[in-house]
Formats: sequence, C-alpha cells, structure tokens
Amino acid sequence: MKGPTTSQTDITKYGPWAVIAGGSEGVGAAFAELLAQAGINLLLVARKPGPLEETAAAARRHGIEARTLAADLTAVEGVQSVIDAVRDVEVGLLILNAGADSNAAPFLDADLAQVSRLLELNVLTPLHLIHHFGHAMRERRRGGILLVGSLAGDLGTSHHAVYGGAKAFGRIFAEGLWLELREYDVHVLDLVLGVTRTPAMQRLGLDFDLPGINVSEPIDVAREGLTHLPHGPIRVAGGNDAGAAFRADPDRAKVVLKSHSLTQRLVGATEEA
Ligand SMILES: NC(=O)c1ccc[n+]([C@@H]2O[C@H](COP(=O)([O-])OP(=O)(O)OC[C@H]3O[C@@H](n4cnc5c(N)ncnc54)[C@H](OP(=O)(O)O)[C@@H]3O)[C@@H](O)[C@H]2O)c1
Repeated sequence: MKGPTTSQTDITKYGPWAVIAGGSEGVGAAFAELLAQAGINLLLVARKPGPLEETAAAARRHGIEARTLAADLTAVEGVQSVIDAVRDVEVGLLILNAGADSNAAPFLDADLAQVSRLLELNVLTPLHLIHHFGHAMRERRRGGILLVGSLAGDLGTSHHAVYGGAKAFGRIFAEGLWLELREYDVHVLDLVLGVTRTPAMQRLGLDFDLPGINVSEPIDVAREGLTHLPHGPIRVAGGNDAGAAFRADPDRAKVVLKSHSLTQRLVGATEEA
C-alpha cells in the first residue's frame, strides 16, 4: 500500500527518489521499507551485494523502483559512484546511515588507516554527498537530509574515541546546516541512536539482554526519524532523552566514567582484554 507511513508526516514530499548510504540492513533497511511503502524510489548503497539485493527486492514489492550500488563509502570513488548512479533522477531525500565502528581499540594502538576510513565514512563522505545533493534540494526548495548519529557523540568512550568525535561532528554540523537550509524548506535532522538491534552490532556480539539497557528496534527508530525529519535539527530516538540529558552534565569526568562502566558491561569487557 502506498502513502504516508506516519500520521504526523507526509514523507512522500521527499521523493521521488531517496538515496540511503548504508541501505542494506538494520536501520538502513528499515528506512528502505518505510520509504518504499510511501512510494519513494530508492538507491541503496552498501558493500555486500547479498543483503543489498534482498532489501531492494523487498522494497520493489511495494511497486517502487529500487537500484543497488555495491560500493565502499570510505573511498572517494564510492562517493562518485553514488552521484553517478542517480544522475538521471531527482533525489529528494538523502539518508546517511553507514557509520558504525567495528574496530574497537585504544587510539594509540589503532591502525591509523582504519581510523581515517572511519572518518571518511562518518565525516567526509557525508559532507561530499550533502554538498552534491543539497545544492539541488536548495534550488528546488524541497528535500530532506537525515544523518544517523549516536549517543556516543555526546561523550568520550574508551576504544571508540574517534568514533565519538565523528558523531559529535555530525550533530554539530547538522545543527548548522539546519539553520542554513530551513528557509529553503530543506529539512535536516541528526537522528541520535542509542543501542539498536542491528546485524552489525549482533555480529560484534553486543549483549542486548543486559538488564537496564534500553535496546531499540531498527524499524522503530527509522520511523521516528522520518516522522521528525521536518522538526530538526536533532532527535534523540528510542526514548533515550534521559540518557542524552545525563551526557550533557558539565561534570565531564563523572559522566564519562559512569558511561564507561556501563559500556564495559554491554560489550562484556572483551575490549579491555
Ligand atoms: N546499532 C547501534 O547500536 C547504533 C547505536 C548508535 C548509533 N548507531 C549508528 O547507526 C548507524 C547504523 O549502524 P549499524 O549498527 O547498522 O552498522 P553499520 O556498520 O553502520 O551498517 C549500516 C549499513 O551501512 C553499510 N556500510 C557499513 N560500512 C560501509 C562502507 N564502508 N561503505 C558502504 N556501506 C557501508 C552496511 O552494509 P555493508 O556492511 O554491507 O557495507 C549497512 O547497510 C551508524 O551510523 C551507527 O553509527 C548505531
């Protein structure tokens, strides 16, 4: 069935095409499903062709056109291939979902090439894509740009120091971009996620059953993001407002240490080994 997926927001106004960077699984696949239900055509980008094709096939069952692009978004050729893949159509929505950190390490022991790729994925690639697609949206006076952020961007985390910094960049950048584009009716949102049950986190062995952990489902946070896209610049998803408020405490040592002990329980302290 086509049509808006939420009562609050008519997401059809972001069509006719959406690009989802990291659109093959987890939150990206949930965005694809919701947008396809709304009749929006899709370009799904990720590295592994298998999950990409599965998500595209499910989206096509709603009668939309879905293209797939197997590309590494940490490489400049990846960015160019995204632009080329939708050169002939009008992109009204850009979702920047790819960005998790699967290489936990103390910064001084980290592989700097891997660190650079994480920054490419979370900072430089989004900037390139937003710069390209945002121009046309501003001219049309219509569109949406949704960055998937993290509560990790609100404070420093051991073994993920660069990841947290990159997510902090996304949040502050989104606020500035939101200010610049709001008079053009181009909506900008940083959707801040807490722990979310994605295949990437399942592969990393996160303990989602830990008592006291608030675990979100991809479909719920994706729906929340699309609903709040017109009401940027920031949406803390999954009922994590209290966690975000805790992270804003000016006593930084207290906050960082308390969050650290919680994170250690979540990952089973394996990263400390
Ligand atoms: N899951 C959580 O608990 C959580 C919490 C807070 C924030 N977040 C944020 O939510 C977003 C989604 O996270 P996730 O857990 O689903 O993991 P993810 O590793 O970011 O994967 C999401 C999608 O991005 C694709 N992707 C990853 N690296 C890529 C690359 N180099 N080039 C192209 N595509 C790439 C993945 O497919 P391929 O692997 O096939 O490329 C997948 O489709 C991220 O921005 C993450 O920082 C997640």
